Amino acid sequence: MGHITAENLSLGYSRKKVIRGIDLHVGKGEFLSIIGPSGVGKSTLLMGLNATTSIIEGRLKVLGCDLGTIGHHQLKALRARIGVIFQGFNLVSRLSVFDNIASGMLHRKPLLSALVKHYSPEQYDEIYEYMKVVGIEQEALSRCDRLSGGQKQRVAIARAIAQRPEIILADEPISSLDPVSARNVMETLREANEKYGITVVSNLHQLDYAREFCHRVIGLNHGRIVYDGPPERLGAAAVAQIYNQDQTDQVGADPLCDPITSGSFQPAVCQA
Ligand SMILES: Nc1ncnc2c1ncn2[C@@H]1O[C@H](COP(=O)(O)OP(=O)(O)O)[C@@H](O)[C@H]1O
Ligand SMILES: [Mg+2]
Repeated sequence: MGHITAENLSLGYSRKKVIRGIDLHVGKGEFLSIIGPSGVGKSTLLMGLNATTSIIEGRLKVLGCDLGTIGHHQLKALRARIGVIFQGFNLVSRLSVFDNIASGMLHRKPLLSALVKHYSPEQYDEIYEYMKVVGIEQEALSRCDRLSGGQKQRVAIARAIAQRPEIILADEPISSLDPVSARNVMETLREANEKYGITVVSNLHQLDYAREFCHRVIGLNHGRIVYDGPPERLGAAAVAQIYNQDQTDQVGADPLCDPITSGSFQPAVCQA
């Protein structure tokens, strides 16, 4: 059974449909990116997987839970199994790197020991391991507001990993970063995916990173999936369709789009 299964799914706000009747199946361990212009519904779709945006029509199952009928307690338990990373990091800035990462473990710790920040030797080792995975161990005791944007995002990823989630949802995790930090953060997400087998679904603005790091790319336009397949098959026609370009436009001239060499794009959705 898939980790995420959407059937004829529409998501939105009040009665406004943003995601319009999509079908999507994501298996365990995939590293998938959702690309598309601003306003097409990338965040709406991603946050729908966490039941933050509402289902208007259709069905959505995540980790075996039907999000159309899920109750409050079940939802809380489901969200503990899903790590979320935002563009704006969402760290507690006055706390140290160590304590921010440790906060990811809260749902696995008794309340009292969490309140007094009491960690067992095993928990110290575990947090240290996560700091090493994201390469931030040198800054363990630094306050998070002293870190660069790239470092903050790596702490946010370590905190998500500390949650021991089955899925990480990342909403434009590198949009506010310089190219070197962005690459670093993408490599860290890849490490989380490969080392722990966490399924990663990430919205990305940068097509070149989607091509380089992801197993699979979903192209969204007007709330519909217009491409679903491996990055190698994401040709000029698909890119034009996703970004609303006239195909006679020079795709290579758009900074979002590399010159495309693969040539033969199979129209619309190509299931890998
Ligand atoms: N909280 C909200 N309430 C109402 N409309 C919203 C809300 N958030 C986003 N939208 C609308 O949904 C559409 C898709 O937004 P979004 O999913 O954020 O797109 P993207 O992430 O691709 O830029 C936009 O028209 C946006 O204005
Ligand atoms: Mg968005």
